[in-house]
Amino acid sequence: MSNMILKKEQLIPGQTSKLVIDAPHIAAKAEPGSFIILRVCEHGERIPLTIADTDREKGTITIVYLVLGKSTALLEELNEGDSILDLCGPLGRPTHISSGGTVICVGGGTGIAAMHHIAKGHHNAGNHVVAIIGARNKELLLFENELKAFAPEVLVSTDDGSYGHKGLVTDLLRRRLEQDNNVIEVVAVGPVPMMEAVAATTRPFGVKTTVSLNSIMVDGIGMCGACRVTVGNETRFACVDGPEFDGHQVDFAELRQRLNAFRPLERESYDHHCRCKCHESK
Ligand code: NAD
Ligand code: FES
Repeated sequence: MSNMILKKEQLIPGQTSKLVIDAPHIAAKAEPGSFIILRVCEHGERIPLTIADTDREKGTITIVYLVLGKSTALLEELNEGDSILDLCGPLGRPTHISSGGTVICVGGGTGIAAMHHIAKGHHNAGNHVVAIIGARNKELLLFENELKAFAPEVLVSTDDGSYGHKGLVTDLLRRRLEQDNNVIEVVAVGPVPMMEAVAATTRPFGVKTTVSLNSIMVDGIGMCGACRVTVGNETRFACVDGPEFDGHQVDFAELRQRLNAFRPLERESYDHHCRCKCHESK
């Protein structure tokens, strides 16, 4: 049955899960960089999630989410055999795949899973993929083996030094750029401060830098304006013009402000859900 969860894996128990979903209509058209919007219950919020992988033959898509608010907490309550109420996609513009060189794909935290599909696209186009992945500690690191399956270089950092380089992904990125003049593009997916720091790191090297923006989205088709971002002093909609943009042109301060605007309401809604476990929106 379409939208059924075929496989659920708790990557970080209670915090991050991976779902393989039966969605042949989406798997057939999804490209690296595509995202979906899903709804868990009838009056629920629409959650945008970047597709982490697809299998066209099996007709499945893979998503990875961080349990952050009420909607992802509701999603986390679903198990194998359950179906997701609505699944809309694939949405957004696919990743522009440059060819003929080294592409460094940087992923932070749960952003690593979303970066995986983009990195695979670059690998399939014949690029030499260097994956740089970082998490706060070893337990929070995702998709290392999945990336090693095709990327010839996977460099790891943890903030506390429990695995790989002790420090941030940008330390590894700077070092790699200093050693290599053949990097044609850097792609970054992760928390906004990380993507901003990646763009600041690549700027002196003059390397094309693409970031995948996790804006707040409602309709996902360019009508509501919820996902607007400023790129190169122009207003763009992440859902239809992105979600990938030139990292050197993004107004990150505005993006941070817009993402933070709804934090108190999200917190209130999540706390309410945890207290009463009701499935309808507050
Ligand atoms: P996190 O805050 O634990 O950071 C993960 C890693 O990113 C860190 O270990 C570090 O290496 C790097 N990093 C973070 N801040 C940095 C900075 N200022 N400078 C340099 N490097 C920095 O990540 P988390 O808590 O797992 O959060 C993941 C975030 O990714 C969420 O905010 C989520 O919304 C976002 N995300 C985005 C997408 C997307 O498509 N853009 C997809 C999935 C997740
Ligand atoms: Fe509504 Fe992009 S989510 S315009």
